[in-house]
Amino acid sequence: MKRAEIHTKAEKKFTIMLFFGLLVLSATASASSCPIDPTFPSCFKLGASTAAYQIEGAWNVSDKSVSIWDNFTHRVPRVTVDNSTGDIACDSYNLWQRDVEMAAEMGLDYYRFSISWPRLLPKGYDYYVSKDGAEYYNNLINGLLERGIEPVVTLYHWDLPDILQQLGGWTNPLTADWFANYARIVFDLYGDRVKTWITINEPIVVCDAAYAAGYTAPGIKEPYSGVFVCTKNVLLGHAKAWRIYDKEFRHLYEGKVSISNHMIWFEPKTKADEALNELAMQYINGRYAHAIYSEEGGWPSSLEKYMAEYSAKQGYPRSRLPVFTEYEKTLVRGTFDFIAVNYYTTKLIRPAREGEVVSDLFVSGIPDLNAVMESPPTATYGYSTLMSIYPKGLRRILGWLKDTYGDHEMMLTENGFSSSGSELNDQERIDFIRNHLEQLLLAMKVDHVNVSGYTHWSLMDNFEWLDGYTSKFGLYEVNFTDPMRERTPRASANYYSKIIKQRKLDICC
Ligand code: BGC
Repeated sequence: MKRAEIHTKAEKKFTIMLFFGLLVLSATASASSCPIDPTFPSCFKLGASTAAYQIEGAWNVSDKSVSIWDNFTHRVPRVTVDNSTGDIACDSYNLWQRDVEMAAEMGLDYYRFSISWPRLLPKGYDYYVSKDGAEYYNNLINGLLERGIEPVVTLYHWDLPDILQQLGGWTNPLTADWFANYARIVFDLYGDRVKTWITINEPIVVCDAAYAAGYTAPGIKEPYSGVFVCTKNVLLGHAKAWRIYDKEFRHLYEGKVSISNHMIWFEPKTKADEALNELAMQYINGRYAHAIYSEEGGWPSSLEKYMAEYSAKQGYPRSRLPVFTEYEKTLVRGTFDFIAVNYYTTKLIRPAREGEVVSDLFVSGIPDLNAVMESPPTATYGYSTLMSIYPKGLRRILGWLKDTYGDHEMMLTENGFSSSGSELNDQERIDFIRNHLEQLLLAMKVDHVNVSGYTHWSLMDNFEWLDGYTSKFGLYEVNFTDPMRERTPRASANYYSKIIKQRKLDICC
């Protein structure tokens, strides 16, 4: 018995030594094979995102009024590739409890969704608040909080009340005030429970895709001045909403407010294209960022100069880029509590060759700069060929933002992969998430960019704008032929959930 005990003790000692020896060995091995420590800081949050028009349906329920997307999809024949609308979409107006459950199943830290302005304020103005609309978002917010999921709320994801579009929409400067009034109602209703706010999602789509290209609602192609007037009004609308929060709500609720910009990372095709590349960065990214984040405010100076000269060359008596008064500059400057970035793609920039026409913004390039956009040769693709996938661009755009505007908190508010089929075993999306999170970790740990969160687009398949239901972005598959819109987790949902639980990326195992 005694011998056995001694033997056991010695064995135990050996086993313990072996265990620690192996631990040291494996730590050394993984440290040498791992490009980076794959753990996320404890305060880093992981979430997923959707938007009202893309998921809610219930387009004419109760006193909700028509949005510009309702109008666009109903009015313009074949505007979406499958002739579909968001009339029912994922039916989240009725199935929101399942959405909350999905967020809980994955263990999301937060769920980013948007409020439909025409559902909450059917008249567009703040003198009438829909009881049903207010209750819908109230239930959703409470449902999330009950499951320990933080609500991150976007006020405007492209669904303007159509009545305001009839009055000029974002090309009418008063829309900035109407938006700010709407924001005050929302802050007042939900500010006690919502601590992270996005005013406007991707102004580049609100203005450039809608007015320069005419692709998205309201689909008014007026690339000469409409797009730039819109740009300025959207910036003013955001700033007015931020200032309302700052003055009237911050001391009560201590939340944070920003604007989500769709940022494209550009690289020059050749060394000779560097100046054009810098201009493209300012045209696409700086135009929506500089006025808010820079110390001096207003338009980026290189773009302002270029547009003044180019407008004169085109025969316009004044710059197509409207003037920012000193008052307006001060109003917009500094209206952010963190920098919110949606990142999907990287493009190479080169000048158009002789005879080559840059006709369509985004599709072929930037017409105003006579610049052609190409995909990086090593890029890969999902369903959308426009969005070439290049994860390294994420690290670079974050680095650029830090270098250009200073060391601020940043949050990735969208990043996602599109597929065409309904397959549940979506290995490509898993790789996409891993590769982008790896670049995010590099940005954080090597470049010391202060990133506080990553938001995957999207929680589930939904109405993908002009692609209707043909393009799938979901961690959950949605069966759109089922009246109950059954939602099923894809392999990527399980993968994402595992990453969230472990707080560690699987890059060095
Ligand atoms: C938009 C989403 C859209 C996603 C994929 C983002 O730019 O904010 O609404 O579904 O891209 O196209």
